[in-house]
Amino acid sequence: MKKSRILITCAKGITPFLKEELLRLGFPALSETIAGVATEGTLDDTLRLNLLLRTAHRVLFLIRDFIARDADELYRAMSEIAWEEYISEDGYVCVTSSVDNPGIRDTRFANVKCKDAIVDRIRKKRGKRPDSGPDQDRAVVNLYWKGDQCSVYIDTSGEPLSRRGYRKIPMAAPMQETLAAAVILATGWNGGGHFVNPMCGSGTLAIEAAFIALNRAPGLQRINYCFMHIKGFNEQLWNNLRAQAKKEAGKLHCRIVATDISREAVDAARRNAATAGVEHLIEFAVCDYSETSVPQGSGIIILNPEYGDRMGRINELESVYAGIGDFFKQKCRGYTGYIFTGNADLAKKVGLRAKRRIPFFNGRIECRLLAYELYEGSRKSKETIMP
Ligand SMILES: C[S@@+](CC[C@H](N)C(=O)[O-])C[C@H]1O[C@@H](n2cnc3c(N)ncnc32)[C@H](O)[C@@H]1O
Repeated sequence: MKKSRILITCAKGITPFLKEELLRLGFPALSETIAGVATEGTLDDTLRLNLLLRTAHRVLFLIRDFIARDADELYRAMSEIAWEEYISEDGYVCVTSSVDNPGIRDTRFANVKCKDAIVDRIRKKRGKRPDSGPDQDRAVVNLYWKGDQCSVYIDTSGEPLSRRGYRKIPMAAPMQETLAAAVILATGWNGGGHFVNPMCGSGTLAIEAAFIALNRAPGLQRINYCFMHIKGFNEQLWNNLRAQAKKEAGKLHCRIVATDISREAVDAARRNAATAGVEHLIEFAVCDYSETSVPQGSGIIILNPEYGDRMGRINELESVYAGIGDFFKQKCRGYTGYIFTGNADLAKKVGLRAKRRIPFFNGRIECRLLAYELYEGSRKSKETIMP
């Protein structure tokens, strides 16, 4: 099977964690941008990447690079690709694009040109054309067009991989599943110590933590990927990869605690965890974050409080952040504390010195994952509490 460039997209800023995941799976990182990493492999390799990557959004398999100065050249070059070998005349195709070409004001025009070239080509070769439209649940072709440089990919994922399929009840301001996974990977936690998540909301962090601790493939739950709608889909390989991933999933050797002040949120988190198959591994409770029962021993304690843009008001939140500092000092010794926030001023109210500030984006909002070492005994007062 032919190798090609594979472009893996991710949320802005997550690239370092995606790159690490790729290298661990034995794929090279050929180049990177703020929202993606390029590697190489076969179309079959994309099945494994879709199943195993925790931080990726989409896995794009390169079909061809070419030059097109305008829409007519785009149509001609697209018509030369043997689409009949990838897409069935009885199938359905959607074209997505990212276009930065002075002659194209509306990307939809480029999409229509590509779609026309694909369906005209298939009709010429097979006597019938596939249906087309905006749905990304079957064959998806992606065009990247910058200046006169075009790259055409098969989008093997379609719907972003963040949609794992377990979050049926999102609640307010939920964290994207892939961002939650990246945040946990950034802490270095892998199930060795306990995982405590007050303010759990819909439970995304706790569920992703359970997946990581179990070494459970994040894509096992999802039933549809676009590669399944590409001709030559190797169903036997897919079944083998799934079986192997299930075999490699281990046991939990730590405690995972998730709490929230809202009963509705905890109910939602519990139901989401049940859909994800990890409800029995997470200890849920309804309580104020400061009342969370922190297991004896060590591990990480991670909070994603509101930060005043989508929910909550700044004044009220100031005392919440100050309270988190007190909670860390009084109840979390021996742990590493983390706060994920998009508000640097509120973070200052915590009153502890962060030993690391890891940059992230939540949508367009620049965020930080702040890490606090909560030492036992005297080292704590020397090194982490601000004067
Ligand atoms: C930004 S949301 C967390 C979203 C979560 N990471 C997710 O993926 O769904 C903040 C959560 O903090 C909870 N919360 C607010 N004040 C709280 C408090 N004093 N104690 C415990 N939870 C609180 C809210 O109910 C909400 O679910």
